[in-house]
Formats: sequence, structure tokens, C-alpha cells
Amino acid sequence: MLGITGGIAAYKAAELARLLVKGGAEVQVVMTAAARQFIAPLTLQAITGRPVRDTLFDPQHEAAMGHIELARWAEAIVVAPATADFMAQAAHGMAPDLLATLCLATEAPLLLAPAMNQAMWRNAATRTNTETLRARGVSLVGPAAGEQACGDIGPGRMIEPAEVLQALSDMLSGDSLAGRRVLLTAGPTREAIDPVRFLGNRSSGKMGFALARALVGQGADVTLVSGPVALETPDRVRRVDVETALQMRSAVFDALPGADIFIACAAVADFRPGQAAASKIKKTQEVMTLTLVRNPDILTEVAASSPRPFCVGFAAETDDVEAYADAKRRSKGIDMIAANRVGESLAFEADDNALLVLWEGGRRELAMQSKSSLATALVALITERFDAQTAT
Ligand code: CTP
Repeated sequence: MLGITGGIAAYKAAELARLLVKGGAEVQVVMTAAARQFIAPLTLQAITGRPVRDTLFDPQHEAAMGHIELARWAEAIVVAPATADFMAQAAHGMAPDLLATLCLATEAPLLLAPAMNQAMWRNAATRTNTETLRARGVSLVGPAAGEQACGDIGPGRMIEPAEVLQALSDMLSGDSLAGRRVLLTAGPTREAIDPVRFLGNRSSGKMGFALARALVGQGADVTLVSGPVALETPDRVRRVDVETALQMRSAVFDALPGADIFIACAAVADFRPGQAAASKIKKTQEVMTLTLVRNPDILTEVAASSPRPFCVGFAAETDDVEAYADAKRRSKGIDMIAANRVGESLAFEADDNALLVLWEGGRRELAMQSKSSLATALVALITERFDAQTAT
């Protein structure tokens, strides 16, 4: 959640929103009434793809996602710029508007990027509020010193958006996988029929990329073998692009030595055309028959290799999810399986998903949530089981 309060630096919040979206975050902007004097909500809506929230008592919004729900939805709240007045409200637990209420109601970590006149920043009241907030675990980044919009020179300028982003990622990261090597597959595969056509599937790669991001956030060394997707490579992730299942398999085995964990998130085509035509197939006949041959099961092969990493697979099921997924876990010889219910508009291409995770002797349901927060939860669970297994 990106909170914007009323200061001239509010224009920088648009760039911060853009960087957050580019980095793969889902961003809900919440503005104060004063912020609207400085920057138009439409700008932020266009950048984030979500209408800006600004009132506490909006029946329409409250019916869709009430403010308490919104406070729970956020994995982190960044307020940039944070004015002296906003910091005073936060320090005193006041909740006069939606943003202050959310900051009071949330359990998510809070990051403030203060911006104000240098005299306001140096004022004893602001100093005390800053200390109070820090003592309660609120993170602050900036302000920077320099020339101010009002003509003064001194500390009080909002820090640059890229630095706010860095502070946020530092705040959210951990080191539960430091020193661990994780290999994962993501996206669809494309199996050539002829030079211009292929068999593919609807996998967007979002879940795999969200996992890669969550893994590096925990300090893992991540190699992501990806089929064709329209997603940016997360920072610090080594990405290997492939098209076909066979290419994916060889990229996986190239990167496998030394891997501690393997996560098979890709939707690998089970079959490929036996022989891709060398030139474009012409529509000369009324009926066309394609002969398909089985692709190797990459996950099963990795699970059968020796030494083998901790193996996690995915299962997409339309019914009897638990029984089918558990059977799949056993037949593939893997440590953990994350199953989701597919059909209608669920899972593929969607931004939200829910998972049922099974391992030998255990299960956990991860409720419907954004793929990025689901990835964080799944990485925590994988780490827990991986640690439990390596401890024995
Ligand atoms: N997988 C793989 N290589 C394949 C096929 C699947 O690595 N050639 C992995 C996927 O990445 C996923 C899991 O195996 O982790 C899915 O198994 P799969 O048997 O394909 O299950 P479904 O796709 O759910 O299909 P089905 O129920 O038809 O077997």
C-alpha cells in the first residue's frame, strides 16, 4: 500500500508507484485530502491499475474491500511523502482519515519517507514523533538535505523514489535461505508444429516469477528457467529462457548441480508434435492429424537424480484436489506438492490464487490471496519443510 500525504514531494510518489509496479508489486494507493491538492488520483490509478482510495466512509469501496480488510491485505505500507502532520498522527495513534486509520489497523511493516520544510523537520515535536515511531518499529528513510521547494536549504526533501524502493525491499527481506541455491521453472512451454505455429498453454509465469522474487528476498541464489512469458526478470535472479520442454529439461539439468531446492512451477507440455514440419504447413487438406509424443517429466527426472534437491511440484486439478495431488506427489517421488483448483477463471493468468500444500504427513491451506503474497507464504513453508528435512 502506498500512502501519499499532502506535500510538494507528492509528485515523486507517481514515480515510486511506477517502480513498485515494475518490480512486480500490486500497489493500492491511499491518498489524504491534502495529497489530492498536489497530485491527481487519476495519475496514480493509471500507473497502478487500481482506483485510489481516499475516504474512510465510502459505502461502495467499503462494500468491496473494507478498510480493515485493506489493512490486512497490505504486506507493507509505504507513506511517501510523509508530512510532519501525518507523522504526528501516526505517533499519537490518531485516525482522522483513511490512511491514518489503515496505519493504525495494520500489522504490516510501515515505512515512512518524510518530506517537509527543514525547520519543521528540526522542530522538537517532529524529532520526538520520529523517535516514538522508530521505537515502535516504524522504518524511516530520508529525508535528504538540499534545496527545498520553499527556497530553504537543509534536511527535509523526500528521498528519491529508487532509494525508497531499496529501503522497502531491505525491510521486507530476510535471510532464511541465505547460502541456499534454488532452481525453479516457470511459464508455459511451446512445442513447434512448424516454423510459425506451436502448441502452448495459458500459463502466464506469474506464480513462478513471484516465487523467484520471494526466494531472492530470503537471500537464496536463484536460477529461473522460464518458458516464453511477458514478465520482467526479478532483481538478482539468474534467468535462462527456453521454449520447448526438451530445452527446459536440458537447462534444468545444466543448472542442477549444487541446487538445494528445485521448484517445478512451469506448465510443461505433456506432449510435443513428433516431428515439427521444416516449412510452414499449407491448408491443402480438410482434416489434419498431428501425432504427438510424450515429453519427459522434468520434475520426476530431477526427483530421481542423485544427489537430489528438495523437490516441490505443482498440481492443477479440477476436482478431488487433495487425493489427486497427493497421488501425484507420491508418483513423482517429490517432497512437497502445491495444488490449486483450476477451471473457470481460476489460477491461470489470474493475479490471485489459493493453494493446498501437501507433504509426507502434513498439509497446509494457503488462502486465496495475491500471487505475490502467496509466494511469500509458500517460500516460508518450503523453507520450514526443507529445514526440517535437512535437520534429520
Ligand atoms: N512437470 C514437469 N515436466 C513435465 C510435466 C510436468 O516438470 N513434462 C511438473 C510441473 O512443473 C508441475 C508438475 O510436474 O510441477 C505437474 O505435474 P503433471 O503431472 O503435469 O500434472 P498436471 O499438469 O496437473 O497434469 P495431469 O493431471 O494431466 O497429469
